[in-house]
Amino acid sequence: MKKAFAKMLIVFAAALLIGAPQAAQASDLKGELEIFSWWAGDEGPALEALIDIYKKENPGVKVINATVTGGSGVNAQAVLKTRMLGGEPPDSFQVHAGQELIGTWVKADRMEDLTPLFKEQGWLNVFPEGLIKLIGTDKGIWSVPVNIHRSNVMWYIPANLKKWGVEPPKTWDDFLAIAPKLKAEGVVPLALAQNWTANHLWESVALASMGADNWDALWSGKLSFDSPEVVKAWELFGKVLQYTNSDAPSLSWQQATDMVVDGRAAFNIMGDWAAGYMSTTKKLVPGEGYGWIASPGTTGTFMFLADSFGLPKGAPHRANAIAWLKVLGSKQGSDAFNPLKGSISARKDSDLSKYNAYSQSAAKDWNSNRVVGSLAHGVAANDTFKNGFASIMEMFLKTKNPQAAAKACAQLAKKAGI
Ligand code: GAL
Repeated sequence: MKKAFAKMLIVFAAALLIGAPQAAQASDLKGELEIFSWWAGDEGPALEALIDIYKKENPGVKVINATVTGGSGVNAQAVLKTRMLGGEPPDSFQVHAGQELIGTWVKADRMEDLTPLFKEQGWLNVFPEGLIKLIGTDKGIWSVPVNIHRSNVMWYIPANLKKWGVEPPKTWDDFLAIAPKLKAEGVVPLALAQNWTANHLWESVALASMGADNWDALWSGKLSFDSPEVVKAWELFGKVLQYTNSDAPSLSWQQATDMVVDGRAAFNIMGDWAAGYMSTTKKLVPGEGYGWIASPGTTGTFMFLADSFGLPKGAPHRANAIAWLKVLGSKQGSDAFNPLKGSISARKDSDLSKYNAYSQSAAKDWNSNRVVGSLAHGVAANDTFKNGFASIMEMFLKTKNPQAAAKACAQLAKKAGI
């Protein structure tokens, strides 16, 4: 009897011990956490993976996943602005690393310095120095990066290209040579969606047309926006546009990707969230179900952007938000989020075995290519330029006048302080 009782005690103690680490991990935080982003619907699964981890670690916190639909944050950023200026910040919000963060919310002194958190979590050695510079100023570090996305990627379906007898174009000249043939067969050569995707296409075309040195020179103010190099980029962009679908303005980026997947279009230039969409939502196998190359003329250059989350001053549930940021910056969080998102981890120590063939190739390019910043996704220029550029794009889509667009950009650059 005594023996049986002792055995029971041992089993009980062992169960307690096994349970202990889990119990120790769960925080006693209470209340809510409102996370604000544009990762709704098809863009949601990766964010959900992070929220799942957060909920396990903080079972007492009610997570409010506040999303505003619209690719690249076109709608969310406007809503965020209203809330921030109205004194109603969410607990944490999505913002691109670079000028979108520094030139707006940091400049307006609306963010908390996260340097203590970076030190506490050992993140100063874990994130690349160049990235920390993009989310930092001499006064602090202002957000936690969750990923690295690539902007300059061309997507296609290998079986369809085979059927049409075309190869993925390595240059825009190659594209312009095969596009009429595709068009004659009733295939849209290049799928395009609503206007921000035209900005997205423009940056890939401009990078190819002017080269990485000139691209960087634009943003440091060394190359003028009305220089012949930029006019030439607009000219090439105009030629490429001839081979896009006329209903583009009414489509989401996912619908443009669908055109490629369904065989209505041959190619699409989109950031590698398209890989996330095709792998996670459409269940296509990278390399078999879908293929990719660097957008024409940009092999060897990685045009990047990074999503990050910050802590606004006056966040209603500050402690809960800091716990959220810890999940975002952790290796576990990063390697749960990114394989679903199509991006690679911003951390230098990520476990690449958890990533698919596309992401592994992106990781290789990220480590070996020349890296430049995206305009369309907040790295290269502040919101004044980015938003003004969107209006210039609308004008160009109607008038197709390269000189006028280049001139308008030069005026805008002055206004934006470039
Ligand atoms: C980008 C963002 C990506 C993805 C994409 C499409 O701006 O960085 O994570 O969400 O927009 O919405």
